[in-house]
Amino acid sequence: KNGFFTFDPGFMSTASCESSITFIDGDEGVLLHRGYPIEQLAVSSDYLETCYLLLNGELPTPAQKEEFTAEIKKHSAVDPSVANIIKSFKRESHPMAILCSAVAALAAVYNDEIDITDEASRKLTAYRLIGQMPTLSAMVYKHSKGEEFIAPDDSLSYAENYLNMTFGTAGKAPNVSKTIAKAMDRIFVLHADHEQNASTSTVRLSGSSGTNPFAAIAAGISTLWGPAHGGANEAVLKMLEEIGTVENIEACVARAKDKTSGFRLMGFGHRVYKNFDPRAKVMKQTCDEVLAELGLENDPLLAIAKRLEQIALEDPYFISKKLYPNVDFYSGIIMKAIGIPTEMFTVIFALGRAVGWYSHWNEMVSGPYKIGRPRQQYTGSPKRDYPNK
Ligand code: SDX
Repeated sequence: KNGFFTFDPGFMSTASCESSITFIDGDEGVLLHRGYPIEQLAVSSDYLETCYLLLNGELPTPAQKEEFTAEIKKHSAVDPSVANIIKSFKRESHPMAILCSAVAALAAVYNDEIDITDEASRKLTAYRLIGQMPTLSAMVYKHSKGEEFIAPDDSLSYAENYLNMTFGTAGKAPNVSKTIAKAMDRIFVLHADHEQNASTSTVRLSGSSGTNPFAAIAAGISTLWGPAHGGANEAVLKMLEEIGTVENIEACVARAKDKTSGFRLMGFGHRVYKNFDPRAKVMKQTCDEVLAELGLENDPLLAIAKRLEQIALEDPYFISKKLYPNVDFYSGIIMKAIGIPTEMFTVIFALGRAVGWYSHWNEMVSGPYKIGRPRQQYTGSPKRDYPNK
């Protein structure tokens, strides 16, 4: 069930590993989770229902959804030892570095209780991961602000709870906008899974040694952090802010077309999609809705993003390279409008993707599997003897 490798000129790719979780047709811009189009899930479902679908293969009945939600809430509190690890970091540390360490610390907290071969143990681990990712993410943010942590509140929805733990005030009643919570939940859905991307492949390869699942997920978080992957949402905002005005867009596009510059248009291009990333379309629609609801429809960054998208989509270079906006292009604008600082964007990507990483790990370890062992094309010296001295 692990990938076998075929060598393509220039890079080695995982040709395939069997999975029934997510299907992508990059040429057609299709993304299905257990057969359901992402465009429909993002608008009609919610994150916990999508989690259930990714983990179990079918949408939950109302009773199953209620039980699943209760289990997630039951396991959303974080062990004090992990809270102390978060507090031990310098406040200005990058949130992804802290999150990665915190999730690795969950491996220490639960290691003695986890039996990879036991389905009930794997389910409990899923509840703990999905339940605690929002709590950990909020703790990371609160620590950076020097503010007191807020405990999970079972009376709130998943997204409302995350927003309250992040932006609420300890000891005060929650006061979360339904509009913002709906947008946050949709961002979680749009990031939930994406087949064998770099971070998910890392979790599978790491998990294939039989290691602790939290340790494998921490490896996935490390991979996601990079600007070529999940770190792109943070890089998009920085790029839009550097562009500054619509007048500067042409120069930015010209720089992205100049290979010697080493600069790439952040939020554009994709290894698989050679058409629109379907998530980008929903993200753009959500961006318009949220900014209108917040009275920010004239946000200058949104104007720059829309004009940049239009120019790039009409540019012969980008057309020839089949470069389209990807999931990261609009997500940052929404998150900035919600009040989330740029350095937390990839943390939110990791929060949404945790269920995808876990679903792939669980799919692999639920059946017979072998340790992954990528091979290479050797380009070094031929065999030679050690010189006689
Ligand atoms: C995510 O894999 C996944 O599913 C990832 C993800 C997920 O949900 O897990 O979808 C999330 O990571 C989305 C991608 C976020 N990253 C960015 O937006 C960063 C900017 N994008 C590029 O770095 C790039 O497009 C990648 C890394 C995303 C894709 O890499 P590829 O397909 O390997 O690109 P490539 O290097 O093969 O590019 C093909 C050509 C090259 O030119 P030539 O060598 O053919 O002359 O297109 C050019 C590239 O130079 N190119 C770009 C470009 N992306 C590719 N030129 C300018 N700007 C860009 N963004």
